[in-house]
Amino acid sequence: METTVNDGGSVTVRKDNELIFVSSAELIKKTVNRLSGGRRLFFVTDENVARLYPELTTENDGCIIPAGEDGKTLLTVEKICRAMLDAGLTRSAITVAVGGGVVGDVAGFAASVYMRGIDLISVPTTLLSQVDSSIGGKTGVNLDGYKNMIGAFKMPLFIVICPELLKTLPLREWRCGMGELVKTAVLDEELYAYVSENIDALASRDPFVTEKAVAMAAKFKKRVTDRDPCEKGSRAVLNLGHTVGHALEKCDGHRLSHGEYVMLGMKIEFAMLSDHVPAKEFLREADALLRKVGLPKLPGVPPVEVTEAAKADKKNGDGKITLIGIIDAGKPYVSEITAARFCELYASATEQAIKKGELARE
Ligand SMILES: NC(=O)c1ccc[n+]([C@@H]2O[C@H](COP(=O)([O-])OP(=O)(O)OC[C@H]3O[C@@H](n4cnc5c(N)ncnc54)[C@H](O)[C@@H]3O)[C@@H](O)[C@H]2O)c1
Repeated sequence: METTVNDGGSVTVRKDNELIFVSSAELIKKTVNRLSGGRRLFFVTDENVARLYPELTTENDGCIIPAGEDGKTLLTVEKICRAMLDAGLTRSAITVAVGGGVVGDVAGFAASVYMRGIDLISVPTTLLSQVDSSIGGKTGVNLDGYKNMIGAFKMPLFIVICPELLKTLPLREWRCGMGELVKTAVLDEELYAYVSENIDALASRDPFVTEKAVAMAAKFKKRVTDRDPCEKGSRAVLNLGHTVGHALEKCDGHRLSHGEYVMLGMKIEFAMLSDHVPAKEFLREADALLRKVGLPKLPGVPPVEVTEAAKADKKNGDGKITLIGIIDAGKPYVSEITAARFCELYASATEQAIKKGELARE
């Protein structure tokens, strides 16, 4: 929410980042139309979502981008902006991003720069995007393999969440979303209790349990990002697992999905920082949740390369690498370590996990 004090002292309260939950896919379009207040809509989606849900996108103005992380480039943003221009879109139009985190990040960035910014509505279609990426206004594209190096904060007006869309999600993408859900859960005591209790139902995609977990996670992310929309402080905890996750993703050339790198990142970071934690029991429990979801194999990237990539992470302060640690559910902390220490801890954490049979190397 943004509050502006106008000349003369009157106050305008602008609401954004608002979560709208809809129970069936049929209601999405009606809901978006109602929220738009009659303004022109421009839909951006990827080729898979366009094929699966043509009724949501194709009969409107719009642009279909390639599916997957490789499409997260400035070139795709240019393609979207050209399509906007060709369609004669003015500043009063609204971009509607219908898709997973890739569509959300790319379409959101295009919305933030087209004519210096037009409004955005998000319709997340993956588990990962419903519990995390569509909320809070981070948008961007990759540069030279480095994640989200170019981007902007662009708060969506609304995020329209319909868990029914998750029925068509491939199992692997489900698992990726479960990774971000576990990440969110360790940051919020109430969600952690719910996810731990219902991990089997979530793994088997029980719709009732999923709907509840999605709503809890989305509301948590909204609270955190409303408090710190531009990541000046407290929002940084949402990057748990992402220092190692992003570094592996860069070095491994995005062969796995983002959610899979984040799961590996969490597992390894829990172990890297376990000496700092008074009650290790919580880390063991959280680690067991990740293993229940199903960890992918660890890419065979040497620790020095992972460290080099981690040095370029956006969260870092001067000369140190920043990691988000966790003491107990809802009790994260920020840790800064030297690159040499990072390398040492990464090497020993991965070796131990492989020795114990908790991680397999590719
Ligand atoms: N902006 C943020 O705050 C934030 C946070 C976390 C992650 N991210 C970004 O999100 C991206 C990952 O997002 P993702 O995991 O959603 O991946 P994704 O957008 O690549 O989607 C995964 C796959 O699922 C397909 N798909 C989407 N919806 C579907 C549906 N309902 N049924 C069947 N298939 C469907 C897509 O076409 C794609 O092939 C990464 O680029 C990551 O950096 C951003």
